[in-house]
Amino acid sequence: MDIQKYLPSDLFHGKTVFVTGGGSGINLGIARSFAAVGAKVAICGRTQSKLDAARAELESLGAKVLTAALDVRDYDALVDAMEKTRRDLGPVSVLVCGAAGNFLCKTEELSPKGFRSVVDIDLVGSFHACRAAYEQLKETQGSILFVSAGQSLIPYIAQAHAGAAKAGIDNLMRNLALEWGPYGIRSNSIVPGPIAGTEGMRRLAPGDIGKKLEGVIPLRRFGEAEEIGNAAVFLASPLAAYITGTTLVVDGGQNLPGAGLFGQIVMDALS
Ligand code: COA
Repeated sequence: MDIQKYLPSDLFHGKTVFVTGGGSGINLGIARSFAAVGAKVAICGRTQSKLDAARAELESLGAKVLTAALDVRDYDALVDAMEKTRRDLGPVSVLVCGAAGNFLCKTEELSPKGFRSVVDIDLVGSFHACRAAYEQLKETQGSILFVSAGQSLIPYIAQAHAGAAKAGIDNLMRNLALEWGPYGIRSNSIVPGPIAGTEGMRRLAPGDIGKKLEGVIPLRRFGEAEEIGNAAVFLASPLAAYITGTTLVVDGGQNLPGAGLFGQIVMDALS
């Protein structure tokens, strides 16, 4: 991995990183980056087979790995997983709140349960993880990273549910920076752009939509999960020791022109 060319491979030696939704996609990319710089990694997700495959990848990078099959909507399950992590890997130094659910749906067609499901997974699930990890983060003077989205910054058509959830996440991030800063806990968000090969891209920009979108990103390409991992390692590292309560946008400039073109492309596809 590129990160090993630029950062010491023992930067996170002895540290434990807990990644919700770490079985695949961007979150697995983040877990890989931490493993590549020496961290022990705990990942949770709903699908055991994904967790098993992710474990093999992370172990091949030399990491000690713990997996927990759970839904972040279940607070007690997260509390159990945090305790098991402390027992098996040591107290959590970095918590990555990445578990998310999404789909394209016009608001007038969205059911209350659909809206609630996304807010429950993304926002309430992130709170659950932070609350469950709090004592360990206080002990390690650790760091929280939220995986936000451009939908938090600007409105996207057919994304009212995700926009509400991610804007809530960014506000939670700032609240925790304020409240937990005195304990030495830092709290920041990353806004990934469209990342190649992820479930999010399959759901939000399938086929033609993806091709059209790629052409209007200022850097003219999709990002790689590893590039979000690089940003996560930076934000959790001593290099960012005075950075808290902030949002780092890692999107190739995708959000700069606004969401109008995405809306046009999506409305064409949905109608
Ligand atoms: N369009 C409109 N509504 C949808 C939908 C879609 N494509 N997909 C799900 N919903 C609605 C369902 O219809 C249901 O509401 P209803 O009972 O009133 O009809 C509600 O959402 C819950 O669906 P369900 O499948 O029971 O929820 P779940 O908790 O099992 O799954 C989701 C959560 C809906 C977020 C699902 O998309 C998911 O599991 N996603 C995980 C992976 C993912 O999205 N990754 C990308 C992140 S960017």
